[in-house]
Amino acid sequence: MCGIVGYVGRETAAPILLEGLRRLEYRGYDSAGVAVYNDGGIQVVKTKGRIQALAQQVEERGGLAGTIGLGHTRWATHGAPSDVNSHPHVSANGRIAVVHNGIIENYAEIREFLQSTGVRFASETDTEVVAQLLEYYYRGNLLDAVTKVLHRIQGAYALGILCADCPDRLIAARKDSPLILGFGDGFHVLASDVTAVIEHTREVCYLDDGEIAELTADHCWVYDAYLRPVEKERRHVDWEISAAEKGGYEHFMLKEIMEQPKAVHDTITPRIRDGAVVLDELEFSTSYLKSLEKIYIIACGSSYHVGMAAKYVLEALLRKPVEVALASEFRYCNPIVSERTLALVISQSGETIDTLAALREAKRLGARVLSIVNVVGSTIARESDGVLYTWAGPEIAVATTKAYSTQLAVVDLIGLAFAKTMGTLGDEEYKALLEALERLPQQLEEILTHREQIQYLASIYFNHPSVFFIGRNLDYAVGLEGSLKLKEISYLHSEAYAAGELKHGTISLIEPGTLVVALAGCRPVFEKTMSNVVEVKSRGADVLGLTIAPLESAVGKVVDYTLTVPETHPLLLPSLEVVPMQLFAYYVALMHGCDIDKPRNLAKSVTVE
Ligand code: G6P
Repeated sequence: MCGIVGYVGRETAAPILLEGLRRLEYRGYDSAGVAVYNDGGIQVVKTKGRIQALAQQVEERGGLAGTIGLGHTRWATHGAPSDVNSHPHVSANGRIAVVHNGIIENYAEIREFLQSTGVRFASETDTEVVAQLLEYYYRGNLLDAVTKVLHRIQGAYALGILCADCPDRLIAARKDSPLILGFGDGFHVLASDVTAVIEHTREVCYLDDGEIAELTADHCWVYDAYLRPVEKERRHVDWEISAAEKGGYEHFMLKEIMEQPKAVHDTITPRIRDGAVVLDELEFSTSYLKSLEKIYIIACGSSYHVGMAAKYVLEALLRKPVEVALASEFRYCNPIVSERTLALVISQSGETIDTLAALREAKRLGARVLSIVNVVGSTIARESDGVLYTWAGPEIAVATTKAYSTQLAVVDLIGLAFAKTMGTLGDEEYKALLEALERLPQQLEEILTHREQIQYLASIYFNHPSVFFIGRNLDYAVGLEGSLKLKEISYLHSEAYAAGELKHGTISLIEPGTLVVALAGCRPVFEKTMSNVVEVKSRGADVLGLTIAPLESAVGKVVDYTLTVPETHPLLLPSLEVVPMQLFAYYVALMHGCDIDKPRNLAKSVTVE
């Protein structure tokens, strides 16, 4: 979703801003722009389309001189993607430029008010009201005008502000949309995520809701909403810049798929000591865990699919009811939550607005919150009672792969650790599951070495216009993710169904030539799943089977092609089965020539409701 980058220092700002915007491209956007102060005024270049087009326009103007500026990638909400709706937006007198992530909910009322005073708007965006309102309130004291504006606007925002009257400083402000400050020698940067700044500095701090920052080349001040100074803790980011580069792969998605053995290894290994899972990060007492009435898993997108798998895993291991909720639904369903509810919040970015809002609602209702997050220091991580990080490193492709896999691994660690504390798992079972978990990285390597087979199958099936994924139990959970992967990057229609549910309606869509991906690796329901596979096969479907190696011949008798993964503990099946599904989606999208890392209309980090 929208990205912000800002720079104030001694170097020419424009190239730094453009490079920062390139690093934010992965978040998803449809237009981009920069504003730079130079020679008494603010120069703005903005355009619909890619950063490359923006860079070209900057070049055509002979580059932009100036050592302070703001950049933005926009993912349209209010107003179509167009040159004029792109950010930065400037006030009518051209003296104040603003970039914004989020949504100003009361923009219509403010716009009407400003129009009644004679202000003429250039764009259809909600953001422009911020620039115009700043001009309206500005009487020579920029911070004073900013606080007045912030008290007047409602909604979510991360804001970057540049004023030609104070050309040595940037102003930043946040509410519900992430914004970080980066500290360098003789410069400061601001950005919506760390990937935009790690090239320049590893020392950052995260603005909290209601805070305002004032940045010059040599100083940084942070204030609360009433301009009282706030002391901020600095954090060191240890992500490698190379992790955010393609390293020889055609796409980030393939690179990240290939990184999964290491990511899973890095996530589990530090937490396994002397034959036991040790979650030092958590402080949940035995009595608290035993007193739990329910676990409420809250997430969006693929993280929600991890939640769907986690329900089977945690209910099996902990014998406690687990409910899985889409974050966007949780807030508005009057959820039944008490002090004896543990909210397990799953989020790669740690910034998804619906997930964050649901976390706050769960806390308000009395739950304690444990989160599984990839981005260190993100808002969800900071607002949780306990956080377990996935050590996947930066994930750039919009469609998640390695974050999904590491989230699953953390769920397994939680299941093991809590089961031990709660006394719900026998020693032998505990040992068997732990050993299977430790074998995963090597088994993932093995699956990845056979990726040409999946590429071949993708070349056979890529032209099917509609695909159904069926499976039961954990196979069903993986089917949900396989289907999402395929549709989000290849734009093919696909649906996932619990195999037993198919005959309650959807089977009417199965006709000769329909592609069905049958996930049949789950031993306890294997026969039942295979009956459903026979049902679609006898209606003429082309069936691609996915199962574990020992069941290959049984599946092969019914389906057209069979993919296998090595056998593992039944509860860990999703960790292996998901990889062929990711690769299948990837190769199908490749055959279609899709923009795999940046699929249309999608954003990596969804920071608007
Ligand atoms: C977006 C991404 C998905 C992700 C979802 C939830 O839709 O494209 O890959 O699963 O957001 O994001 P989160 O960062 O909360 O896991």
